[in-house]
Amino acid sequence: MSSFSENITNQHPDRTHTCGKLSDVHLGEQVVLKGWVDTRRDLGGVIFVDLRDRYGLTQIVFSPQDNPAAHELADRLRSEYVISVMGFVALRSPETVNPKLPTGRIEVRVESLCILAESEALPFSISSHTQKTKLASEDLRLRYRYLDLRRPDMLQKMILRHQVYQVIHRYFDAEGFLEVETPTLMKSTPEGARDYLVPSRVHPGAFYALPQSPQTYKQLLMIGGLDKYVQIVKCFRDEDLRADRQPEFTQIDVEMAFATEEAIYSLTEGLMAALWDEVLGIKLRTPFPQLTYQNALWRYGSDKPDLRFDLQICNLSSAFKDSGFRVFDQALSAGGSVLGLVIPEFGDKGRGYMDRLDKTVVRKQIGAGGLIHVRIPSDGTPPNCSVKSHVLSEEFVTGAIQASGAKAGDLLLILCGKWPTVQEQMGALRLHMARELGCIDESSWQFAWITEFPLLQWDEREKRYSAMHHPFTSPKADDLELLSNDPAHVRARAYDIVLNGMEIGGGSIRIHDQQVQKQMFDTLGIPDEESEERFGFLLEALRYGAPPHGGIAMGLDRIVMLLSQSMSLREVIAFPKTQSAQEPMSGTPSTVEPERLNELNIRSIPEPE
Ligand code: AMO
Repeated sequence: MSSFSENITNQHPDRTHTCGKLSDVHLGEQVVLKGWVDTRRDLGGVIFVDLRDRYGLTQIVFSPQDNPAAHELADRLRSEYVISVMGFVALRSPETVNPKLPTGRIEVRVESLCILAESEALPFSISSHTQKTKLASEDLRLRYRYLDLRRPDMLQKMILRHQVYQVIHRYFDAEGFLEVETPTLMKSTPEGARDYLVPSRVHPGAFYALPQSPQTYKQLLMIGGLDKYVQIVKCFRDEDLRADRQPEFTQIDVEMAFATEEAIYSLTEGLMAALWDEVLGIKLRTPFPQLTYQNALWRYGSDKPDLRFDLQICNLSSAFKDSGFRVFDQALSAGGSVLGLVIPEFGDKGRGYMDRLDKTVVRKQIGAGGLIHVRIPSDGTPPNCSVKSHVLSEEFVTGAIQASGAKAGDLLLILCGKWPTVQEQMGALRLHMARELGCIDESSWQFAWITEFPLLQWDEREKRYSAMHHPFTSPKADDLELLSNDPAHVRARAYDIVLNGMEIGGGSIRIHDQQVQKQMFDTLGIPDEESEERFGFLLEALRYGAPPHGGIAMGLDRIVMLLSQSMSLREVIAFPKTQSAQEPMSGTPSTVEPERLNELNIRSIPEPE
């Protein structure tokens, strides 16, 4: 029998401690530790190994004096071998004490070693000592995700995510919510993305949809009298992916009967306060500020404004009225606006900088027609506008400076165009400038509610309205009449919660009246037969005593991403999908055998060349 298999049969007893536990209170104790070889150093005949598990690192020492057989076997150890050691706890010599490690004052002097599993040479280094900047490419780390998960950094994110689940469960239980599971194989719910479809074998030609959200079911639970519902639930959306979007992601899904907006806000704020307190030890100030959708766009150029810095957009349309400058006049006469953004104490970065800002940032990245700027020198000399004074007279430039509140030393950036495009372009420029000038306070947490979203948005391609949130969102009572004659101006009882410029949740008070729901489907141009076929069950349920109700869904992955200061959702999901919706480790998605497709009455048509 080889020494390796001998070691496998010759197992040690269960571990007495984990690798993060031992300290000088354990001196002299005999212990058993199990874990992975993080690093191995041979220093003149004595072998030092950092043994790693989920809980930390412990230095273990093999010396020929303590046990020659264990020392000889330790010579075979390589990175990521899984081992079990039995030995006694001793103080490290003073020069090897590591004050950064909880176990840094001790070591385990090994008397017996078992190799439980060997490891092939690693495709990339995962040692606790690997610096972040030397990390392997994300593709490679995703291909070997189980190795990447061993890195303490990844592990911490999984632990943080676990803490978040626990806080959520405790919080909602204490608030009297019932956790209810809703189906994963369901009928399509419109949330604005494409569905993932699952063919039915039993009903040839029929399909289940994976939930884009459990929206209809949570409303039915309210009609079912459950009063307060919560679920940490997987949702699936076939849409273009970004750093903050995954095709399958997790929501904290909530619904309440007899809910008002204020009740949802304070419930959500309570959850955020509990999360930040219990996970980061940070006390949040509640209530969070509220901003209407209109104000958010006019002031910050976004419905998810980053409020960690104070740059605000100003409306210069009146200041430039009848200026005679063709670009502004055309924009204003087409119903658009001229917007300004003051960059305080900008100084003079020279023409090259302003040219690059215009060409590369404003035109190329942001997609605006062009940037106009006014520099207000700090030495009191006259303002310097990028449009010559015979084209745009100084009088108008001075008026705009006054209207914007810009002072000596500031820079005034100007864009013009149509609502809401120009607001969004200015919003993107605002973010760009803040990032470039380093005026974002990375340690601050700026939450806000965005309220009074429009109920509908015009879909130019389809030439009809679509729901801005989803078609079950209630219009504001004051705007109900507009639904038939001026749909674009109907405000919804919908809200989003944003944090540091990211939408972390959204919800609404729902329509609970069958007639209003039907009117909404009509406004969306959904024919009666189609609304009956797709949502007949909900319309029917609304006829049997539906309580007023409303709710919210928060993006759990996004919250964990922000709490852990990660750059993408992929860092906080154990097995995420890539930008191209693949899971590189298992090779998902994959083709299936023709027999399985036959069973499902499906034929795969090869893609045209
Ligand atoms: P909504 O579509 O706004 O609302 O989604 C709620 C929250 O879920 C998160 N989210 C995502 N996270 C990661 N990847 C994605 N692809 C993704 N899409 C959405 C966001 C978002 O704010 N049923 C309604 C909620 C309700 O009305 O109660 C809904 O799903 O953080």
